[in-house]
Amino acid sequence: MVKETVKQLCKQHTELTDQDVQILQEMAFSLQTYADLSDSYMFIDCKLKPSNQAIVVAEAFPVGSTPLYNNSVIGKIVFESFEPGVFYSYRNGKKSIIRQAMTQEGIVVDQTVVPIKNTNHQVIGVLISEKQVVSPTPTGNVQKFSVVTETAEDQMTNSGLGVVSDLLMEMLILTDESNRLVYANPSGLRLISEMSEKDDVLNRDLLELLPFLRTVYEQEDDVFVFELTIQRKNLIVKKIRMREKNKSQETLLIIQDITELRTKEKELMMKSVVIKEIHHRVKNNLQTVASLIRLQMRKGMPAESRSSFEETLNRIYSISSVYEIILTKEHADDDDVNIINLTRKICSTMVLNEYNLKVDLIIEPNNNKIVTTSKKAVSIALIVNELIQNSLKHAFQGKEEGIIDVEFTVENDFVEIHVSDNGVGMKNPQTSLGTEIIHNLVTNDLNGEFLYVPREIGTHAVVNFPVGAEVEIFDE
Ligand SMILES: Nc1ncnc2c1ncn2[C@@H]1O[C@H](COP(=O)(O)OP(=O)(O)O)[C@@H](O)[C@H]1O
Ligand SMILES: [Mg+2]
Repeated sequence: MVKETVKQLCKQHTELTDQDVQILQEMAFSLQTYADLSDSYMFIDCKLKPSNQAIVVAEAFPVGSTPLYNNSVIGKIVFESFEPGVFYSYRNGKKSIIRQAMTQEGIVVDQTVVPIKNTNHQVIGVLISEKQVVSPTPTGNVQKFSVVTETAEDQMTNSGLGVVSDLLMEMLILTDESNRLVYANPSGLRLISEMSEKDDVLNRDLLELLPFLRTVYEQEDDVFVFELTIQRKNLIVKKIRMREKNKSQETLLIIQDITELRTKEKELMMKSVVIKEIHHRVKNNLQTVASLIRLQMRKGMPAESRSSFEETLNRIYSISSVYEIILTKEHADDDDVNIINLTRKICSTMVLNEYNLKVDLIIEPNNNKIVTTSKKAVSIALIVNELIQNSLKHAFQGKEEGIIDVEFTVENDFVEIHVSDNGVGMKNPQTSLGTEIIHNLVTNDLNGEFLYVPREIGTHAVVNFPVGAEVEIFDE
């Protein structure tokens, strides 16, 4: 029975796998024992499919105790603003202890939440244990909440709550059992007057003044959170029904105006659309330039010019690789580029027509993940491209095969890129455009050094540059 409920709720409302559900079912099965043993109220909550809310899938109340909850809470939606501990454990996979937490039902409890994990260490639910806090005075707990009944103003002033609620940005609105307005803090009053275009609002039916709140009031749940868009305003409305024994039912609304936040979000979204569009255009334009060069090459040209054109093509492709990587990202303003992936891309797009060679190109990240901004990535792309091209072009003359090795190391906050080959080695090198490009980029853009390390066979070039604020290293 318990297991069946867990299964049904999980299937209907969550994205958990059958295996995950099974783990929760086992736990739900033993929940009563835990509750009796620790003499506390136990629950299992799971995250809802699309939203950030959670749902109660199992509960157990200790035998023989005075009931903390009048009704079963299975199937109830749990909102983050009311149960922060639940969501903390969910996100961080850690235990959370909250003393004197106010539950969604308006009861003060000591609450302990631990994450429930599957074999892959993913949090699939949380186990909650609650013990009611026995209040020292009879006017504890729920009373604290309902100081604004009857003689609303007096009590607000006496308790000091009046001052606090006056300062709140949130709008507080309290209505009696027939939905008449009995209290509103200044920002609440402002909202009501502004939206209803009436000044004299006290003691009037709130739902006549603000008809859009009807859906919130009609909701049966005692606690309900709702986002409304009305007259170009975005509001988050929290409704809390305050039940007290032998007393009428009052409703407290806590309303947050999040119009500005939503506008900012939209602006940011627009901005990232524009950025993405610009990246697209840059990439497309680079590809057009490359196509024009290819066209020129096909139309025929002196043999000695061919290799210069190919080198130019490769330079364009390596810049374009940076944009290709950025464009695969989900967030357009995230322009971080993983330079090992970038190197792989450059190697795979390099034009090798000129060289009839069988080359093994080995990339060794050494477990490093090096991430940098697109600006730095363009420089690194061009440098790596020049070095690999040099090996291809000069190292293996008269040979049929060879090895080129690109290695990344990180030491003492310096990144080193080693490009080495087992070719003929440098013989009276004459610096030309390639070397000039490398030197310029390494010193000016990367603030680093470029040098050749002597070796017996072949050539070994090293570029090193400081990690700095724009480069991030991750151990993989
Ligand atoms: N891996 C290498 N193996 C052998 N010689 C190289 C290597 N890299 C560079 N060189 C030498 O250094 C010279 C300068 O390189 P570079 O400035 O890139 O000019 P380019 O590649 O246009 O000739 C090359 O002409 C070549 O003689
Ligand atoms: Mg060169």
